[in-house]
Amino acid sequence: MGTAKNISNESDQRPPFAAFTNHQIPEKFQTLPTPCYVIDEGQLHQNGQLLADIAQRCGCKILLAQKAFSNYDFYPILNEYLAGTEASGLFEAKLGKEMMPDKEVHVFCGAYREDEFEELLKTADHIVFNSPRQLEKFGFRAKASGKSIGLRINPECSTQEGHDIYDPCAQGSRLGTTRAVWDNEMTPELIALLDGLHFHTLCEQDSDALETTLNAVEEKFGFFLSRMKWLNMGGGHHITRLDYDIKRLEKCIKRAQDTWNLQVYLEPGEACALNAGFLVTRVLDILTNGDTRIAILDSSATCHMPDVIEMPYTPPLFGAKIWINKAPTDAVSSGTEAGNMIKKSNSEGLIYRLAGPTCLAGDVIGEYSFSHELREGDLLVFGDMAIYTTCKNNTFNGMPLPNIWKRSKDGSLVQLTHFGYGDFKMRLGS
Ligand SMILES: Cc1ncc(COP(=O)(O)O)c(C=O)c1O
Repeated sequence: MGTAKNISNESDQRPPFAAFTNHQIPEKFQTLPTPCYVIDEGQLHQNGQLLADIAQRCGCKILLAQKAFSNYDFYPILNEYLAGTEASGLFEAKLGKEMMPDKEVHVFCGAYREDEFEELLKTADHIVFNSPRQLEKFGFRAKASGKSIGLRINPECSTQEGHDIYDPCAQGSRLGTTRAVWDNEMTPELIALLDGLHFHTLCEQDSDALETTLNAVEEKFGFFLSRMKWLNMGGGHHITRLDYDIKRLEKCIKRAQDTWNLQVYLEPGEACALNAGFLVTRVLDILTNGDTRIAILDSSATCHMPDVIEMPYTPPLFGAKIWINKAPTDAVSSGTEAGNMIKKSNSEGLIYRLAGPTCLAGDVIGEYSFSHELREGDLLVFGDMAIYTTCKNNTFNGMPLPNIWKRSKDGSLVQLTHFGYGDFKMRLGS
């Protein structure tokens, strides 16, 4: 998750709420037991089609990065548009193979384990290693099993600022082989093992950042790329965002194809399910502390939208404006204004800090401005909640896992999960 989509304080409705016609929360949402996630099939189709069109025009292959979105009930939809799945390890690889059985299964992991590798060989088609040592340890066996072998490179080209946690090119990063390490450790035998190179350096970025990265890749690794069958450009391409520069992306893809005569892969996660989910929640209590007006919700930042804290970012909320954005690029506007919420109320609407019910003092989703007073029981809907949420959530404090619902193209809602006490308990003991 990242900063770009949350910087705007202006629009409270679109595009994260584009599925809401008449600018209203759909009536069916009012009856949902909260908290719950609702995943929108229509938006997944729309995202998938856009990605499929690019793949078709350019001859590249686009995979679903499952770390962002692994709600497999929806894989049949994405299967219509994508070339396969990308996994971060054995379990995601198994899920991809099981749920998109006719498609490619790619895996990249920071370090593979001996006790999982045989099963991985039965599961994945493309195996990408992070270091020459891992390539040496597992690569010969993988090659003998007929796998397509890749090495993740680190072009040492940071194109984002302010959140090292999501920058694989940050100083001292463990992700990918730098040119210096390549020169020291890659023997002719290891190089001969390689079918492709992989880089992943972006996070919610436009294609100008990809262009810059590609220059660095060409400068540092261009010589080796002419011997490769494929180049995987990773994820972080915010392709399905409204203002994303698709033409420039296609230029980058064609440039790589023309320069090195290879198959290009992209493995976006966010772009596949961008704006395709909602977190529906209710107000449990309203309280104040000095100038701060607080609404405690039945959902939690730390449990149900952990990137809000990790990244950090402030998610869009239907019918309200983000008043203070947690995103690092907006740091200037945060902090000093925070203490003055009640005084600000007249000119700016009513400002509420929305927070979770857990013990964590920092379990705060954000500060939002409303045109009306919030009351206990009010229904709130956060947008863009399909990505990095259900696959990252947890039951800290014994918080229930929100159930997952499907919203079909005709607007009907179907409950997909039935989480309860058992799901909390089973991970804690016998
Ligand atoms: C190797 C790799 N590929 C793909 C992705 C997907 O990135 P995004 O969801 O930002 O498109 C990630 C995200 O961390 C990644 O680490």
